[in-house]
Order: sequence, then C-alpha cells, then structure tokens
Amino acid sequence: HRNPVAKLLLFGATGDLAQRMLLPSLYGLHADGLLPEELTITGAARHEHDDKDYRKFAKKALDEFLPEDRKDEGAIGTFLDRIFYQPTDLSDPASFQPLADKIGDISGGLAIYLSTAPSLFESAIEGLHKVGLAGETVRVGLEKPLGYDLETSREINDAVAKAFPEDRTYRIDHYLGKETVQNILALRFGNSFFEPVWNAQGIDNVQITISETVGLEERAGYYETAGALRDMVANHMLQLLALIAMEPPARFEGTDVRDEKSKVFRSLRLIKPEEVPHVTVTGQYGEGAVKGKFVKSYSDELGQPSTTETFVAIKAHVDNWRWQGVPFYLRTGKRMATRRSEIAIQFKAVPHSMFAGRGGLLQPNMLIIRLQPEEYIQLLVMAKEPGLDREGVRLREVPLNLSMDAEFAGSRRRIAYERLLLDLIEGDQTLFVRRDEVEAQWTWIDAIREGWKANAMKPKSYASGSWGPSAAIALTERDGVTWQDD
Ligand code: BG6
Repeated sequence: HRNPVAKLLLFGATGDLAQRMLLPSLYGLHADGLLPEELTITGAARHEHDDKDYRKFAKKALDEFLPEDRKDEGAIGTFLDRIFYQPTDLSDPASFQPLADKIGDISGGLAIYLSTAPSLFESAIEGLHKVGLAGETVRVGLEKPLGYDLETSREINDAVAKAFPEDRTYRIDHYLGKETVQNILALRFGNSFFEPVWNAQGIDNVQITISETVGLEERAGYYETAGALRDMVANHMLQLLALIAMEPPARFEGTDVRDEKSKVFRSLRLIKPEEVPHVTVTGQYGEGAVKGKFVKSYSDELGQPSTTETFVAIKAHVDNWRWQGVPFYLRTGKRMATRRSEIAIQFKAVPHSMFAGRGGLLQPNMLIIRLQPEEYIQLLVMAKEPGLDREGVRLREVPLNLSMDAEFAGSRRRIAYERLLLDLIEGDQTLFVRRDEVEAQWTWIDAIREGWKANAMKPKSYASGSWGPSAAIALTERDGVTWQDD
C-alpha cells in the first residue's frame, strides 16, 4: 500500500527543527538507500538563498548535527545534489507562483512538510491551493503546534480541509516516530501474558513522566504562549496514555490504530473546574542547579515576570470498563532533575501476603517502560534474598531486565523524524494524528485551562534540578502512591 512521491517540499527549511532533525533525518534515509531514487527536496523559507547557498546551509547543519560515525562525504555529496531552494514568504500571496514554477511537474506526487508558526497555516494552505500545489497527488504534513485550544485548532483544521482531505493530511507528533513508543504496541499486542492483567483488576495506577533538564532554549516567543500543558501534554503525553490504554486494534494500520486511540481520548474524564485545583499541579522553575550547574529562573531567562507553567502534573481517568478507578498520573517539566521519558505501570498488590507473619514485606509489581535516554523495559518482581531466614523472611524487589540498547546493539537508533518523514513520503498514515484525536485532546486540555482560570491558579515555584513543586508529590501520596523515581 506504499505510494511514494517524487518530490518533497520543506517549509521552514532554515529553522531550528530543519537543521537539527529534518535534514539529518533525510540524510539518514538517503544514506541507507531508503528514499525513492528520483526524490528531490525543495527547501522554502524567507531567506534569500539560492540552491547553492542552501546546499551550503544544509551541509553545515549535517556537519553540526550528524553523529561522527554517520558522516560519509560521498553520501553527503549525493544527498546535497537532491536539494533545491526557493525563497518564500508564506504571508505573501505573490510568493507562491514562483514556488510552483520551481517545483514544476507534480504528477509523480508531492509531499509538503509544513513546519511553521500556526498563524501562517491558513495563508500557506490557501497559497498552495491557488497555485495548484494541493491537488490529488499532493499530501501535507503538519508540525505542531496545531493551534492553541479547541477553537483555534478547528480553524486550522478547517483551513487545511479546504485544500486537503483527511487521507492526505499527516499531523505529526514526533513521539509516535520513536522506536520505543512503537514498542509499546509490540509489548502489549505481541505478547499474550500482559493482556489478562492489563485492566482495572490488574493495574493499580499508571505514571507517565517526561522530565527535561533544558529550560527555555531559544524558544521564548513560542513557549511563553504555550506552557507545559499545551507543549507536552496536549500531544506527546496523551499519545503515550492512549497507547497504554487503548483496546487491541484489529490491524496495525492507520484506521484501526487511530480509531482505538480516538476512543481513549473521548473517554478521558473531563475535569470539572472545581476539581482542577485538587487533581492538577502547575509549576514554574526558579533558579537552582541542574546536574551541578547553576541555572537562572524562568522569569530571569525570559527577562520579565510570567505566569506560564513549565511543569504540570495531572491525575487523569479513562472512563470505560477497562480502566474504571485506575488513575493515570501525568507529569512533565523543564529544568528537572534528569532527562527521562518513562511509563511506570504499578500492578495491584497481592490479595494476601503469606510472608507477613514472618516479617516479609512485599512491594507491588511494577512494569517500567523507559523510552529515553536509555531504552529498556523492566519488570520489578519480588524475590527471596539468599539466606536461612532464621530472623524472618527477607524479600527484595529485583528487576527482570530487557535492555533494548543491548539486545539490539547492532541496529542503529534512528531519529523519530526519519520514520515519520519516510511514512509521509511513502504515504502511510498509521503514525500520524487524525483530526478527531486532536480535537478530543484539546477538549480535555481546555477544561483544565478553564479550571486554572476559574480558580486563579498560578504556577508554584520549584527549584531547577528538582522533581517539581512538592504539591506534585502530594498529588499521588494522597492516594497512597509514590512516583517512580530513581
Ligand atoms: C517538543 C516540545 O514537542 O518536544 C519541546 O515542543 C520538548 O518543548 C520536546 O523539548 C521533547 O522532545 P524529545 O524528543 O526530546 O523528548
């Protein structure tokens, strides 16, 4: 069912994402011989480059961001030969005809990758449509943020839908391109022994953490209007939650997988305004030390006081049969103690401990899916410590370990965008987000924001290098649950 295009058009071609991720990813696919032979890549952005300038620009990005062992001057040379450039101002309707002329014949298929500010989406789509760059042979990839809330995301989706039907629209959530994220599906649906306990009878709670050590970086303009809830929860974290919570799809294909995820989003319990202060915690980093290095507070970095949250923790519920009563705790933040993306699934305690009378203490089993920086799956189980136990049974929690890094040491770890760009070029929508998913996500997110507003909730300060405000710890401890930390 693969249907590759002959041309790729990259908007935002001089941006940070293009340099760090998109160009290195396309190069990676090229070097491995995975791109269609005839594929050309045209970059477009406001800069007044010509093809030659842009090739130089691309070369510099590859020099800087490719790992040393991937640099092959021959392959870089042939990669650059595929690349062209057209200066384009998306807000200027006159910009599009020269672009269409540059692209030329699109009968062999065109994939457009739109990595630009959401404020430019509408004029971009309209411009493309007018000059015939939106016909049946064209598909479009949209990078986040897809709006700001339900209303603005609908506006964008409506504008896109005027030119591109859903089956030619590819909404990107780069977490879905991560190998370990796809591995959640293999783990759940490629093994038989998880399923019988993968429900409210077997599972006590689910914890999803994405902690980062970086701060604002160069993105103050965007981040200040977004905040952690929109930047991380409205997309990546909810996608992880859906992969954990969804029913088994019949086929590993776009419609089946996305139908099941969508059902999960629609089952998320909307949080009522009066409950919001009890089940959500927001924070903003103050100064502190991250990995031994002093860093400034968010407002100092920004240069002005702000009420944007850089941390959020939420207790969520999926209201369906499978998950009744099981809390899903989510937390994410910048400038935290370590960089880590992880899902921890805590199973129910045994119904009765026969070791209690002999002093043996049990911990509930835990399945840990570490997505990054390391990739591993760990099952924490109870075992007996060696010994004669004359003073009581000594039990200890020990890990059953599957290190993906060690097990698949021979295979290269690809950038998430490699997979997604290839799927866009070849026309496989399975790992892209459908409109109904996005809208259900925003519906849930907007209710939280409304609650923050109604209760005049301001983010609590937390020290950089910590695990967030203490209220985030209280959020789970109140339920007798402890965050899985190192
Ligand atoms: C992006 C967010 O979508 O994901 C960033 O906008 C965040 O703020 C990034 O840093 C995290 O991605 P990863 O792949 O490094 O976990």
